[in-house]
Amino acid sequence: MNLFEVYPRLAIEPSKGDGCYVVDSKGDRYLDLYGGHAVISIGHNHPHYVERLHSQLNQIAFYSNSVEMSIQRELAFKLGELSGYPEYSFFLCNSGAEAVENALKVAAFHTERKKIIVFNKGFHGRTSLAIEATDNAKIQAPVNYTGNFLRLPLNDETQLDDHMDDSIAAVLVEGVQGISGVHIPTDSFLKKAEALCRKYGAAFIVDEIQSGYGRTGKFFAHQHAEVVPDIITVAKGMGNGFPVSGVLVGPTIDPWMGMLGTTFGGSHLACAAGLAVLEVMEREDLIKNAAEKGEYLLKELQEIDGLLAVRGKGLMVGIDLPVPAKEVRQKLLSEYHIFTGTSSNPNTMRVLPPLCITQDDLDFFIQSLKSVVK
Ligand SMILES: Cc1ncc(COP(=O)(O)O)c(C=O)c1O
Repeated sequence: MNLFEVYPRLAIEPSKGDGCYVVDSKGDRYLDLYGGHAVISIGHNHPHYVERLHSQLNQIAFYSNSVEMSIQRELAFKLGELSGYPEYSFFLCNSGAEAVENALKVAAFHTERKKIIVFNKGFHGRTSLAIEATDNAKIQAPVNYTGNFLRLPLNDETQLDDHMDDSIAAVLVEGVQGISGVHIPTDSFLKKAEALCRKYGAAFIVDEIQSGYGRTGKFFAHQHAEVVPDIITVAKGMGNGFPVSGVLVGPTIDPWMGMLGTTFGGSHLACAAGLAVLEVMEREDLIKNAAEKGEYLLKELQEIDGLLAVRGKGLMVGIDLPVPAKEVRQKLLSEYHIFTGTSSNPNTMRVLPPLCITQDDLDFFIQSLKSVVK
């Protein structure tokens, strides 16, 4: 059987990971400033992560949610403590899209409404509701359309104000838009969205699947704006490559038995991966590293002649180039052995390194990019 080919792929096969580097099947070493799409948070093959998964595998890898699983409670407790949301409750699932899907269902159950406000250039995944929330008509199949989503421009407070009323179930916004090429909601816009949700009894949902888990220099990107969402989605960096995701649900929303469900979500192995990530983030102070290295990277990039724009928060950076990003990324890859990311804008490159990135690695990238842009 052949693969159902849906991915344009680079002609490189990483076969070993090591911190911020991967080694390909020919033995060549690459600096990974893409982290497999913002997934690698604590670094490839971190020894503690490997050890924790090994030892869990030797105990029990999986049982369904029909039994008591204290490791899920342990993960929820630790996540609550480290993220600053100890009073929230946590539903575990497997992928980002599934987390968004469940977040929207919780909002709709809670409010008994179905209209959702989303934003231009947003990306929330490829399952049914998540894809309708996503601003990309090409990847929406005819079966995906429910007509319940209203898309507005990001950061336009007047339009948001004009369209909010008591028929709205939720406002869904990315903490920082990732796939669009790193577009940041202003603090004032997030505050407005929060206030309007409170006023009309809608759920304020922040999708932190890409921007969360320390990437922007705080546990969640929305914490820079000091807003408090009712529902928060997490995935990507949460498992450092192990498929695991979740929904943090605020204390004003009650669950009921059978409200949500999944076979695989929250398996013992997934929770072990999630705990290993949080333990390493805490021990190695990776959120602080993301804040400091991100600030340095942004400052240095802003001084490079020839870049059209540089946007970012922490280690989530978008660079607008005067030529297709593909050309620059290919040169960085073949001549300097550096992986970088794409975005939905063909002229925008994304930089999403593991949170343990060093200044030396960033300097190497900055010098390499300068040479390529020249
Ligand atoms: C903000 C955001 N939400 C949701 C998703 C969907 O995640 P997944 O691909 O794990 O379903 C992504 C994936 O890139 C994302 O960036």
